[in-house]
Amino acid sequence: MLKKILFVVLGLLAALILFACAFYTKAYFSTEARLNTFYQVVPEQVTVSSDSSTLAYGARLTTAKGCKDCHGNDLGGKIFIDDPMLGVIPGPNLTKGEFGLPADYSTNDWVRALKHGLGRDGKPLVIMPSHEFTQLTQKDMAALISFLQSMPAVNRSLPALRLKPLTYVLTELEKIDLIPAEKIDHQRALVKDIEVGITTEYGKYLSVACQGCHRANMKGGDPIAPGFPPVANISLSGNPGKWTEQEFIATLRTGITPEGKTLLPEQMPWNMTAAYSDVELKALYKYLHTLQ
Ligand code: HEC
Ligand code: HEC
Repeated sequence: MLKKILFVVLGLLAALILFACAFYTKAYFSTEARLNTFYQVVPEQVTVSSDSSTLAYGARLTTAKGCKDCHGNDLGGKIFIDDPMLGVIPGPNLTKGEFGLPADYSTNDWVRALKHGLGRDGKPLVIMPSHEFTQLTQKDMAALISFLQSMPAVNRSLPALRLKPLTYVLTELEKIDLIPAEKIDHQRALVKDIEVGITTEYGKYLSVACQGCHRANMKGGDPIAPGFPPVANISLSGNPGKWTEQEFIATLRTGITPEGKTLLPEQMPWNMTAAYSDVELKALYKYLHTLQ
């Protein structure tokens, strides 16, 4: 009798291991196939400028759109994920210094990366939230690229990108957004401009930078990756729904909420929102307060 039970248990265990191996094999090969898909796109023409106010605005956008969180404060690159289960994911050196972008990296190449989520070879970039940047206006895209092309060179070498098993499994289970290029409408033209002001419309435009974590409805949910906290609800039904405009602004500039909670910049990027102007934060507050 005991022998029979042992036999059944071992059988089940073997079946389970076999199933896990089969699942992992499928996850690995299907993710690799997706990463090696070539996308044929025609980058939209964006006119860069060397006008000093455009460059200053573009510089601020590299903070406000989170580029520095992944590519380093000098945009010379940094490792932003180094995890034994997930892998090593560096945000590459975006300057034209040693180990940076090639000298002939063009405006079209910048548009291909930012608007389409694709590398120069037409294959998807991983993790980089291009599905958000693709929604930038033509004016913001042009200012951003104008600045990026004028940045001082930083010589910094980084380890190569290496994905580990958990990343393949979470991608297959659709638990992480590894390949933003797949979610982008590559035919869509950039919106020309949007009027700056304390309006829900402008707030909605800015909230695209919050969507990747707080979701489109701003109600938050599961952590964006293992090791991160659950994402807070920032719609009217969450804590910010009870805050005054001043409390909201102070939270996004200091990382301390009216409830006394300290937000860690690696988890909730408030060093990004700290760079927002009063008008931008007020517009965001106004928009979030329309979401029931
Ligand atoms: C969440 C992290 C993250 C953010 C935010 C982010 N990036 Fe990236 N970016 C990456 C990663 C990771 C890669 C490398 C992807 C790869 O090699 O597949 C990358 C690649 C790139 C590339 C392609 C470089 C090449 O060698 O082809 C460019 C250009 C780029 N990022 C620019 C930007 C700019 C500009 C911003 C802000 C508007 C930004 N990124 C924001 C993570 C990020
Ligand atoms: C990289 C992911 C990420 C992005 C992008 C992001 N947030 Fe968050 N945010 C979080 C997480 C995670 C928390 C919860 C942190 C915690 O519990 O410690 C949070 C918390 C907050 C809180 C505090 C809520 C509370 O109940 O205390 C506010 C306010 C907030 N976010 C606003 C924003 C706004 C506005 C944007 C866009 C401009 C934004 N966040 C972008 C991840 C993000």
